[in-house]
Amino acid sequence: MSVNVLDRPRAEAEHAAPQAAAIHIKGLEKSFGNNRVLRGIDLDIPAGQFVAVIGKSGCGKSTLLRILMGLEEPSAGHLRFEATDGSEAQPNTRIVFQEPRLLPWLSVADNAAVGLGEGVPQDVLRKETASVLSEVQLAEKAGEWPSSLSGGQKQRVALARALVSKPGILALDEPLGALDALTRVSMQELLNLVWRELGFTAVLVTHDVSEAVHLADRVVVLDEGRIVLDLAIPHAHPRRHGNPALAELEGRLLAAILGEIRG
Ligand SMILES: Nc1ncnc2c1ncn2[C@@H]1O[C@H](COP(=O)(O)OP(=O)(O)O)[C@@H](O)[C@H]1O
Ligand SMILES: [Mg+2]
Repeated sequence: MSVNVLDRPRAEAEHAAPQAAAIHIKGLEKSFGNNRVLRGIDLDIPAGQFVAVIGKSGCGKSTLLRILMGLEEPSAGHLRFEATDGSEAQPNTRIVFQEPRLLPWLSVADNAAVGLGEGVPQDVLRKETASVLSEVQLAEKAGEWPSSLSGGQKQRVALARALVSKPGILALDEPLGALDALTRVSMQELLNLVWRELGFTAVLVTHDVSEAVHLADRVVVLDEGRIVLDLAIPHAHPRRHGNPALAELEGRLLAAILGEIRG
């Protein structure tokens, strides 16, 4: 389909990496038996945008990510990806989960290299792995075993494994949910940095409203299978924790999650 690039916020179009993809979701529904989990989701995400998805436990956030990843079929509706040149795309889409899921018998570098898949020449593999480990600030741990790493470091290896193949879309399903508060904050800074440097489209599911507002260009609140609030966070990156304007947005999001407002 044709695309008017002028419709996109300028900063996003410029920020997006060449491989970043836009996501177009229309009338998306998903039921498991009689359980109507997603009940008509319409969502257009420009290439390179960082979107956070929040909502109560069980509201369908992970299901939405699995559909994005092609791991689950929608019951109805459409999902389409579009390259930055406006053509239909089949983007490289990767996901990071709450648990790092590392292979204990492989070194940090080999765990990251798993993300490249089979058949990659050794020199390319070494170069890409070294580059991504330095991106997540783990270059000096390349030869270590996962068991010697802290929780935050393990999650950085999981992030490296997802990023090593240069995804156009990165899905993150509560990736910082198991980390302690201080590690979370430093991981948020790292996530923001890699997103700004690599320019992929990011879809982050999180329970943490402050994290959503700190990282995302836009926060979508899901409730009972529908989007009940789609809130732009129009602040430059990187952001400072404790900014009162962001705290106000957090309050509005919390009210939407708790069902106090609809908008
Ligand atoms: N494969 C599945 N089979 C049956 N029900 C499922 C399946 N996956 C998710 N569900 C149900 O869909 C609902 C939403 O789940 P999920 O997307 O994991 O929620 P969230 O990530 O927001 O906590 C829940 O009621 C869950 O039990
Ligand atoms: Mg979930």
